[in-house]
Amino acid sequence: MPIVTTTEMFEKAYKGGYAIGAFNVNNMEIVQGITEAAAEVNSPLILQVSAGARKYAKHVYLTKLVEAAVADTGLPIALHLDHGADFEICKSCVDGGFTSVMIDGSSRSFEDNIAVTHQVVEYAHDHGVVVEGELGRLEGVEDDVVVSAEDSSYTRPEDVQEFVERTGVDSLAIAIGTSHGAYKFKPGTKPQLRFDILEEVARRLPGFPIVLHGASSVIPKYVDIINANGGKLVDAIGVPEDMLRKAASMAVCKINIDSDLRLAMTAGIRQHFNEHPEHFDPRQYLTVGRDYIRELVKDKIVNVLGSDGKA
Ligand code: G3H
Ligand code: 13P
Ligand code: ZN
Repeated sequence: MPIVTTTEMFEKAYKGGYAIGAFNVNNMEIVQGITEAAAEVNSPLILQVSAGARKYAKHVYLTKLVEAAVADTGLPIALHLDHGADFEICKSCVDGGFTSVMIDGSSRSFEDNIAVTHQVVEYAHDHGVVVEGELGRLEGVEDDVVVSAEDSSYTRPEDVQEFVERTGVDSLAIAIGTSHGAYKFKPGTKPQLRFDILEEVARRLPGFPIVLHGASSVIPKYVDIINANGGKLVDAIGVPEDMLRKAASMAVCKINIDSDLRLAMTAGIRQHFNEHPEHFDPRQYLTVGRDYIRELVKDKIVNVLGSDGKA
C-alpha cells in the first residue's frame, strides 16, 4: 500500500464517532514507536511533519522513514505537513510526496486567509493532495512563533461555511480553547473547552471533518518520571482525556499530538540515564525512548481516539 490521503480515514471516522491521531515525527525512533503501536492495534495513522522537523531531519529523510513505516506495517498512513505558513512550503511538500498539507493562515486577516488557502487548495487538488485550513488562533508555541493568550481567539462559527466554500479545503482546524505545548491551562483552574463552538461549527458544516490542534494531555505519569529523574517541569497541564473522547465522538476527526510524544521520549531517556549512568550507546537509551512512545500511542489509540481495529 502507498502512503494514503486522509479522505477515506475521515469519512469513516466521522461516521464511526472516533478520531485519527496525527502524531508529529522528527526522527526514526519516533516514527517507529508510533507505527509499531498502531500496528499492534490495527489503527490508521497520520504522521505529520512541521517546518521545524523538516529543518531538523530534512524532508527526504522524513518521507523515506514514513514510506518505510508503510512498507513495514501495511497500515493506511497519511503524510501531512503541519502548520504550513505559506504557499511555497505547501507546494514543496505536495511536490515532495506528502498526501496532505495544512496551510495555516490563521494569523492573517479573514480575506488573506481565504486567498492563500484557496491558492494551496488549487495546487494540491491538482496533484491529488488534500488540504487542512485553520480559522481561529491557538495560544502557545509552534516553531519559533509564540502566540500569547491575548492574541489567541476562538473560531467564529458564523465564518466557517463561507471559509470552506470559498477555499475548497478538505478539513478545518478550529480554536476552542486548546493550545500548543505542555502548559495549556492555568494551575488551580479547571480546564475548559468551548464544546458549544464545536457543536455550532458541526451544525453549519454537516459531515465535514474538524481538526483539533494542541491536544496533548500532558500525562502526569511522564511529567513525574521526568521530574523524578532530574527534570524541572512545573505546572504542566494538558487537555483532559475525557474531553478528547467527547470531541472525537463529535465532528473532530483528527487530533494532533506532539508534546505528549516529547514528554514520553524524554521520560524514558532520563530514567534510563539515571539508572545506567555508565551507558553511552545511543541504541540503549533511544530504545527506551521508543518503547515509551509505543506505550503512549497505544494507550491514546485504544483509550482516547477509538481508532483501534479501523485500519
Ligand atoms: O504545533 C506545533 C507542533 O508541536 C510542532 O512543533 O514546530 O516545534 O516542530 P515544532
Ligand atoms: P500539542 O502541543 O498539544 O501536542 O499540539 C500539537 C499540535 O497541535 C501540532 O500541530
Ligand atoms: Zn498545531
